[in-house]
Amino acid sequence: MKRSKAIPAGIAAFFLVCLGSGCQKVPTVTAAAAPVSVLEMQMIPPTPVRLARGEYLVEGLLQCPFCHSDYDFAHRPARPVQGKKDGGADFDTFGLHKGNRIVAPNISSDPDYGAGKWKDADFVRALRQGIGHDGRALFPLMPYQYFRSLSDEDLASVIVYERSMAPVHVEQPKTTLTDDIKKTFQPLEPLAHVSEPDSFDRLAYGKYLVTLGHCDQCHTPHDDYGKVIPGMDFAGGVDMSGAWGTDPKKIIAVASLNLTPDPSGISYFDEQMFIKVIRSGQVNARPLASIMPWSFFRKLSDEDLKAIFTYLRTLKPVRHRVDNTELARYCKVCRSKHGFGERN
Ligand code: HEC
Ligand code: HEC
Repeated sequence: MKRSKAIPAGIAAFFLVCLGSGCQKVPTVTAAAAPVSVLEMQMIPPTPVRLARGEYLVEGLLQCPFCHSDYDFAHRPARPVQGKKDGGADFDTFGLHKGNRIVAPNISSDPDYGAGKWKDADFVRALRQGIGHDGRALFPLMPYQYFRSLSDEDLASVIVYERSMAPVHVEQPKTTLTDDIKKTFQPLEPLAHVSEPDSFDRLAYGKYLVTLGHCDQCHTPHDDYGKVIPGMDFAGGVDMSGAWGTDPKKIIAVASLNLTPDPSGISYFDEQMFIKVIRSGQVNARPLASIMPWSFFRKLSDEDLKAIFTYLRTLKPVRHRVDNTELARYCKVCRSKHGFGERN
C-alpha cells in the first residue's frame, strides 16, 4: 500500500528537523577519541547476544520496518505485509511539491534489490551520519539525527539484526529530490565513539530510549521550514492524518498528542497506566491510531517503559490542548489544525 496519498502537506516540513535545532539536541553523544570500535571492523561479529539485542531494539523501539516495509494497518496491532518486511516503501511526494519522491529503500538481505551487497560500514554511515550506501545525503525522514545516539554496541547489534532479515526480491524506485529541497539538509559529521548508556540510571536511560524512539519527531510541532516551534517540545498537535485505521480506504484525522506533564497533556497518567496504554494501544476506551508506533513500543520491557515514563515526567509542562475526538480547527500556538485547536 502506498502511504503517500494519505499524508498531508504540512507533515513533510515537520520532518525536516535538521533545518532547525532538532539535530543539535541529541544527548549521550561524545566524539571523544576511543579504543578501536567494533564498528570499524570489516564485519561486525554476529554473536547471539547482538542478534537478540538488535531484535529487541529494532522491533521494540527503533521501528525500522515501520517505514521500510509495505504496512498492513488494517491489522491491529499494525504489521508489515507478509513477505515484505524491510522490502522498502514508497512515500510518493510525502507532501512535498511535485518532482519529489521519497522512498524508504529495500534494506532486506536481497543481493539484487536490497542491502545484500552493502557493507556494515554503509549501515554505520546511514545511521550515524545520514549518508546512503551510494554516497547521497539521506532525506531526514530517516531518523539518523536520533539514531546517531545509539551506543557503539547497540548500533552493532542493530546492524547484526538488520543484516539477518530475509531477502525481499522487490525493486523500489529511487528517492528523487528537487534542488530546493536538497539544500535544506546535509549529512552530519562522523562520530568516533558513542559510549554505552547507564541502564541503572533510570532517568538518563529513559532519555536515551526516548531519543532513539524519536518520539519528538512526531510529538514536537515544527513550522513550515522544519524549525521546532520554541517552547513546544513534546506538546503535540502535528497533523498526522492518514489511512491508519482498520479500514484501509478511510482517512482518519489524527494529530500527535501532548506528552508533557501539563493538565492538557498526560499529567493524569501514572506508570501503570502508561504501560497499559502502550501495550494495548488504547487510552481507556479510546483507541490510538496505528501511526503512533505502539505496535512496536508494546514489545519493550516493563523496566524500559518505566524509564521512558520517568523521563517524560521531567519534561517542561506545556499548556496545549489537542483532542482527536474533536473537529480539527486552526491552532495559533502550533500553527496547525487539530481538535480543540481553537482553545489554545
Ligand atoms: C520514519 C521512517 C524511517 C525509519 C523509522 C527508519 N528509516 Fe531508514 N530510511 C528512511 C527513508 C525515507 C530513507 C531514504 C532517504 C533518502 O533516500 O533520501 C531511509 C534510508 C535508510 C538507509 C540508507 C539506504 C541506502 O540507500 O543506502 C538505511 C541503511 C536505513 N534507512 C536503515 C534504517 C534502519 C536500520 C532503521 C532502524 C534503526 C531505519 N532505517 C529506520 C525512513 C526511515
Ligand atoms: C510516527 C509518529 C509517532 C512517534 C514516533 C511517536 N508517537 Fe506517540 N502518538 C502519535 C500520534 C499520532 C498519537 C495520537 C494517536 C491518536 O490519538 O489516535 C500519539 C499518541 C501517544 C500517546 C497517547 C497520549 C494521550 O494523551 O492519550 C502516548 C502516551 C504517546 N504517543 C507516547 C509516545 C512515546 C513515548 C513515543 C516515543 C517512545 C512516541 N509516542 C512516538 C505519533 C507518534
